[in-house]
Amino acid sequence: MSQPASLPAIPTLVPPPEEFAAQANVSGIAAYNEMYQRAAADPANFWGDLAATELDWFKRFDKPLVWEPPFAKWFEGGKLNVSYNCVDRHVKTHQRNKAAIIFEGEPGDQRVITYHELQRLVCRFASSLLHLGLKTGDRAIIYMPMIPEAAIAMLGCARLGIPHSVVFGGFSAEALKARIQDLEAKVVITADGGWRRAKEVKLKEAVDEAVKSCPTIEHVVVYKRTGSTVHMQEGRDHWWHVLDETAIEDVAPVELDSEHPLYVLYTSGTTGKPKGILHTSGGYLLQATMTMKWVFDLKESDTYWCTADVGWVTGHSYVVYGPLSAGATTVMYEGAPDTPAFDRWWRLVDKYGVSIFYTSPTAIRALIRQGDQWPAKHKLSSIRLLGSVGEPINPAAWAWFHRVIGHNRCPIVDTWWQTETGAILIAPMPGAVGLKPGSGTFPMPGISPQIVDNNGNPVEDGKEGFLILRTPWPSMLRTIWGDPERYKEQYWSKVPGAYFTGDAARKDKDGYYWVLGRVDDVMNVSGHRLSTMEIESALVKHHAVAEAAVVGKPHEITGQAVCCFVTLKKGVADHEKLGGELRQWVAHEIGPFARPEEIRFTEALPKTRSGKIMRRLLREIVTSHTVAGDVTTLEDMNVLTSLSAAHDED
Ligand code: WT7
Repeated sequence: MSQPASLPAIPTLVPPPEEFAAQANVSGIAAYNEMYQRAAADPANFWGDLAATELDWFKRFDKPLVWEPPFAKWFEGGKLNVSYNCVDRHVKTHQRNKAAIIFEGEPGDQRVITYHELQRLVCRFASSLLHLGLKTGDRAIIYMPMIPEAAIAMLGCARLGIPHSVVFGGFSAEALKARIQDLEAKVVITADGGWRRAKEVKLKEAVDEAVKSCPTIEHVVVYKRTGSTVHMQEGRDHWWHVLDETAIEDVAPVELDSEHPLYVLYTSGTTGKPKGILHTSGGYLLQATMTMKWVFDLKESDTYWCTADVGWVTGHSYVVYGPLSAGATTVMYEGAPDTPAFDRWWRLVDKYGVSIFYTSPTAIRALIRQGDQWPAKHKLSSIRLLGSVGEPINPAAWAWFHRVIGHNRCPIVDTWWQTETGAILIAPMPGAVGLKPGSGTFPMPGISPQIVDNNGNPVEDGKEGFLILRTPWPSMLRTIWGDPERYKEQYWSKVPGAYFTGDAARKDKDGYYWVLGRVDDVMNVSGHRLSTMEIESALVKHHAVAEAAVVGKPHEITGQAVCCFVTLKKGVADHEKLGGELRQWVAHEIGPFARPEEIRFTEALPKTRSGKIMRRLLREIVTSHTVAGDVTTLEDMNVLTSLSAAHDED
């Protein structure tokens, strides 16, 4: 997206506005440096002191950290409950009648749920789960629209120590099935459907399809959201509101170990099989809570809105657990930003007086494209802080966000983290750190990133390398569900003894971190992680496909788009129809959000002599339309010429 000449130049350094710094939780660079250094000197006790004061424990922990690399235990011996920390503890204070959740559905329905009301709803739902015979340690799948009941289901599970896995509503029945099976879940919590772009997303239908081959499922709980007709299987399926009729409101939070599993969230890796990232209780909650205060500068009076869906990690840490543990008012919106018109978000900001607004670069770019007239219709004067997450933010999008949404008044926190890290690890403390558009600036206290070469040696400042972390942190993933070997191999073996993020980065002469993107076979489409291998295995399941290779192609709005190179089985012709059919096939196998942008048919794929597909060459072809890189290991040189000539059939 090129900038018209009349726009102001993109700034290179934006110091914290004086007024902002004066009121900030962490004010001035000296305060940040002091905290950072104190943490670096003794990370375990730094976190231990915070855990003791910032979380409520039934039993105080014995030790902040037990580290048997690569397995960490934080706050061992401590007993707590995450739902107690997110709900009950606020009910005991003047926050009792403060709004915990402000919700608006896509059709315009509104709800304001106070902390006291949230406690009632969470207890009632937990009581329904108990009534169904579920107990601590059983697993639940949550497949819900963005409505308060998604958060209530998460907190209800957390109250009983039932680890949950939220599956994004945009995933297909196939993807849902794979997750239920891997988790061996006993219950699916869902809704009849949800609203998206004025259409119903039929969730219960997908659940019916998925659970056909999930023998571990005993119950399906269905919340009535849209009121459309759904099939209810006697004995297995239960309406949420019917269970609620006999629910009780006095359900004690179970006293759980600090390391009790809180949730598993599936994310794409470098193979066809998604990884179940396991997060546990005390450490996860502590770091989600602290980053609310440090990065979002949270105050009691804030109205905080993170636009992420609860199906992604951002929705876990920064719509539900982080904000509620910190006692914030968190906004949830069910639908699309363009329904009924492109100013829906700005309308909500003014209506509810949103003061902190957190979204993704993809969303920002999509809104830029629609023109400034949409935000211009609204005051946006309640906003004091903006945030960005999911992918590198290009400076032009940064500048627009700063000027058109923040009216040149609001700092932007560019937050780098991952499903695996659980909480923000690199981001500015906005009252302390000057911003450079496109940089996540500095690490959080207690986090020591390094940028290294292929051999694990630190590279010079200014040079690009792999971003790694050498020391454990409280909200880190504990393992891959059911597969500790894969956990070791994927994250802790590339650079021995260090956590490998899979991202390339560089640190500039002022110590600012710039995360450049993935270095593995993972694409980032609209800030959502997609694995090339997962889409390839979906494609080769189709009867006409012989082989497939998938790469990310630069895209103006979504950062990257899915581009598939496909060879067909002998005798299959009719490419014309097949392009559309294969795109639909992938949407069916994984979910509509994974639908490829482009299918290119080709006679052969570039391979090494050992038969490995050279995705690097394909990436070059879709990025620069030529191949300049090393091709000495390529088996058949002719493939390249024909590939460069292959055109989009769709
Ligand atoms: C990958 C993690 C973290 C929640 C959303 C995505 C990329 C994320 C940034 C940022 C540059 C970023 C990285 C990372 N990423 N935030 N601020 N600047 N890149 O979670 O699906 O686990 O993806 O997203 O490549 O590794 P995820």
